[in-house]
Formats: sequence, structure tokens, C-alpha cells
Amino acid sequence: MNPTILAIESSCDETSASVIQNGRVLSNIVATQAIHEQYGGVVPELASRAHQQNIIPVVSQALQKANIAKSQLDAVAFTRGPGLLGALLVGCSFAKSFALGLNLPLIEVNHMQAHILAHFIDEPAPSFPFLCLTVSGGHTQIVLVKSHLDMEVLGQTTDDAVGEAFDKSAKLLGLPYPGGPMLDKLAATGDPTKFTFPIVNLPGYDFSFSGIKTSILNFVKKNSAAQPDFIKENLADICASIQSALIQTLMKKLHLAAKETGIKEIAIAGGVSANSGLRATLQEASKKYGWNVYLPAFEYCTDNAAMIAMSAHFQYLAGDFTTQYASPDPRLKV
Ligand code: KG4
Ligand code: ZN
Repeated sequence: MNPTILAIESSCDETSASVIQNGRVLSNIVATQAIHEQYGGVVPELASRAHQQNIIPVVSQALQKANIAKSQLDAVAFTRGPGLLGALLVGCSFAKSFALGLNLPLIEVNHMQAHILAHFIDEPAPSFPFLCLTVSGGHTQIVLVKSHLDMEVLGQTTDDAVGEAFDKSAKLLGLPYPGGPMLDKLAATGDPTKFTFPIVNLPGYDFSFSGIKTSILNFVKKNSAAQPDFIKENLADICASIQSALIQTLMKKLHLAAKETGIKEIAIAGGVSANSGLRATLQEASKKYGWNVYLPAFEYCTDNAAMIAMSAHFQYLAGDFTTQYASPDPRLKV
């Protein structure tokens, strides 16, 4: 079996299409929706409309770049969830119509599982079992990955996701959307020990990030009242200190999971895995604890259809197809 699959991703604010052949990604086209910048966050209704506008050109480009004709496809895959309902509906409906028109089977993909399976796009891939810290704008999870399609969530956030904590912190500091990457950039020149923000340590493998957000809000209010230019003058140090608290919160649980499971194959996935501080911390941990650390290529950290295609490839081999009755699930679990 050497399947050629077209995959569609439309869970949030990226419209993406990818073609994969026999497990090799031939194209990965991503159209980022700039419209949300002026609102300081993703507006679901606008995201759906932008997906609707982007989807046909993005799919055409993906097929063209891969040099694959529609007649060569063996299946069509789409993101079933989790994500924004209206956004998911665009990808799901498009994939269904496309598959129906070409009489092809359909594959529905779990977005969070796909973030993890992005590690199988390029070599070297982690070996099973491995632990994956999945960190995105909507999720924060420690996942025990037993095989390509068998995963168990060991712990997760009980409130905000870490990506949300990055974005909201950035917003409180007056940084433009999307705040996570901007905060990362500023943190690179700052002193992470200058200010202290809470490192929340819940029992077990669960996380909490809402307290950090509140503490930043109070910090900004208090210091700006005393000295109006305080934030501006200390921006890099504040960013570095916030980033350090968020990374330490993540690392505490990752350490615990690695210790208690005895697993040294450690991966990170999702949008926040692009964070330079988190990547550097994992590289250090790799030396210190003998972990084999897997960091995704930047192209595959944030939302993209190549990861959906990779998951679809394994699902195709396993005979995991869906029907024309498939519908999105905004709260789909791993
Ligand atoms: O996986 P993703 O593209 O979308 C979701 O599935 O949520 O993740 C987006 C999240 C956003 O919160 C964004 O700010 C964050 O990933 N992010 C970063 C960085 N790049 C993206 N956060 C911190 N540092 C970065 N370099
Ligand atoms: Zn994502």
C-alpha cells in the first residue's frame, strides 16, 4: 500500500492543505489569516469566512506543488476536531464534497494526535513508548504515546492552555497579536530572574495557568500605577520572567512523568513547541538527564495540514476510514 492522500486542516485560523505519498509529505500549503490581528485574537466567525475564501486556492496549490493530479489520490482527510465549530465545518464539508466527487474514502483526523504525529514527518522519529508534551493555544497535555494511533493523556490543564497564557500575558503587556511569538522574541534579551511569577504545582500531572495570568494582571496594574513607563522600560526582563515561570511549570510535570514512567524518549508538539526558551530548556534536560529529545521543525509546530496528512497515512494503513455522515467535534479528545 502506497497511499496518496490529500489532507485539509481548518481547526482555527490557519487554512492548510497537504499531499502525502507513501508517508512522504510532498506539499504543505498554509494560509495564515491576518484579519484577526486587528481584533487582538481569533474571531471565530471571521475565521470560518476566511477558510471559505482560502480553501479552494490552498488545495489547488497543494496539489500543484506536489505535482499530483486528483485522479492519483487514494483518500481525502480532514481535521474532525478539536477546534472552532464553524472553522472545522468548512474543512469537513469541503473534504466530503471533494471525496464524493472523486469517489474516494474519507479519513477524519484528531488535531491533537496529529500534532504529535508530526514527529514522523522527518527523521529521526521517536521510538515507542514516548512522552509528548503537547502545548498549543487550546491544549496543554502530557501524552503517553504507545503507538502511532494509541495514545493516553496522563495529565492536562485544568483551566487555560499554556499558549493562551503566553497570548494573554502578551496582551496585558500591550504587545500585538499573536502575542506568544512576540513575547518569546523579547524574552531572548531579558533577565528571567528579574521578576517572580508563580509556578503552580498541582497534584499529579495536571497543570493550571489561570493564576499566572491573574498575577501578571496585578503586577502590571501595581507597577504602572507607581511608574507609568515601568512596563516599557522593563519589557524584555518581564517577558523573560513570565516565559521562565511558564516553562518551569511545564517542565515540573514533564520531569515527574519521565521519572515515574521511566521513559527517556521525550517529544514536544503544538504551537508553543516553537518557543525558543522551551526548546533550549529541553536541550539542556537532554544532556542532564540522558533524555532523547525530539523538537518538531518550526514548519510543523503551529497548525499545518502536513501533520493531518501524516496521521491520515497511518490511519489509512490501519483501515481507519469514516463515512459521508462524519461531522466535526469541537471538543474531540485524544
Ligand atoms: O498549535 P497552534 O498553532 O494552534 C492551536 O492548536 O492552538 O498553537 C498556537 C499557539 C498560540 O497560543 C501561539 O501564541 C503559540 O502557539 N505560539 C508560541 C510561539 N509560537 C506560537 N508561544 C510561545 N512562543 C512561541 N514562539
Ligand atoms: Zn494546533
